[in-house]
Amino acid sequence: MARLLLGVSGGIAAYKALELARLATLAGHGVRVLMTETATRFVGAASFEGIVGAPVLTSEFERDPLRGAFPGEEQPGHDPIGHLELAGRCDAYLVAPASANTISKLAAGAADSMLTTSFLACTAPRLLAPAMNDRMYADAATQANLATLRERGVEVIEPGEGKLASRGEFGRGRLPDPELLLARVEAALPAGDRPWDGLRVLVTAGGTREPIDPVRFIGNRSSGRMGIALAAAAAKRGAEVTLLAANVALPAPAGVRRVDVETAAQLAAAAGEEFAEAHVLLMAAAPADFRAASPAAGKLRRSEGLELALEPTEDILAALASRRRDGQSVVGFAAEHGGKAIERARDKLERKGADLIVLNDVSNPEIGFESERNAVTLITAGGENEVPIDSKEAVAEAILDEVDRLRAKASRPSA
Ligand code: CTP
Repeated sequence: MARLLLGVSGGIAAYKALELARLATLAGHGVRVLMTETATRFVGAASFEGIVGAPVLTSEFERDPLRGAFPGEEQPGHDPIGHLELAGRCDAYLVAPASANTISKLAAGAADSMLTTSFLACTAPRLLAPAMNDRMYADAATQANLATLRERGVEVIEPGEGKLASRGEFGRGRLPDPELLLARVEAALPAGDRPWDGLRVLVTAGGTREPIDPVRFIGNRSSGRMGIALAAAAAKRGAEVTLLAANVALPAPAGVRRVDVETAAQLAAAAGEEFAEAHVLLMAAAPADFRAASPAAGKLRRSEGLELALEPTEDILAALASRRRDGQSVVGFAAEHGGKAIERARDKLERKGADLIVLNDVSNPEIGFESERNAVTLITAGGENEVPIDSKEAVAEAILDEVDRLRAKASRPSA
């Protein structure tokens, strides 16, 4: 869990910083927010305070009621020099949005607010996400200021191109999406500070295709979205992630090693190779349970008719779980359709030898396969934990939290 300092300067995009603060807090980071006076004219400090659970500071003369502590930390006994404390203790400092005015001050080394003073005093990785009108962004003064800051080691997160706040205007100057901003800050965190640093995670995603002939296959509706969200969440926590993607059209998250496979046999072979090195297996893929016993070498003709003999595929999860060694966590997924879903998933937990089964009730059309949202029940030997409907990213975080709990329990000596 990192201590993140978020500087918010004045601009319409300040509202997006609220979502960034929410996502960072949800990911388990301790977030403190510094706002310029101008920023408080765009969004209220109370919103940030509610989201991160800590007071917002604006002026360097203000007393910090938390004495430089981040949410989740104990307050120090003494009252430190306020404007140096947060900057000195954070693991990364991101200014988002960074207005043209704030960028010019930071480039000049001004120290006229809590945000600018802290920036000057911060030795942790510093990042800036400029957001402004495209002409202001393109102006030589802004570009020279950004070049100066880059030379000094500040990471500038390029604004996106698209519709701008003023009606009818289009160009470069949009603040990137909060998810991307968070990913960039997390990537900038010093190695060793992230909770899953040193862990190797193997994720399978998508649905396999079992050939009937060279053009037809037996497939399923798994999009790979849940597996991708898990891979992204594990990478954000610092893990080294390998994604075995079975027919996944979506791109792999940044920093994740991707290996493409097509059939259950290929997935079994690739997973078999990678599993020995992994600490955590997240078996989110939907491998086919059956394949054609003898796929045709040439395209079958309709006029010839078709009788398909099927044979079962290997149960990859069960096979991997049976050869697990100490320190490996095995997570399986169960897509059940209504009634007795929990009993069936619990049976799967035992039968397949997994530590956790993530149960997905696919009879609910709002969640599952192609949807962006999901709701699951986490089933372990110890009990059940409901994760209510949310984005697949938030559900992925909840699954990884459960893996954390299981690993902590497994590493504790038994009483
Ligand atoms: N799985 C696997 N290999 C297969 C089929 C499934 O590793 N050939 C994994 C899936 O990735 C998932 C879990 O097993 O993590 C649950 O899959 P499911 O098909 O629901 O399990 P089955 O054992 O086929 O159960 P059922 O009797 O309900 O079909």
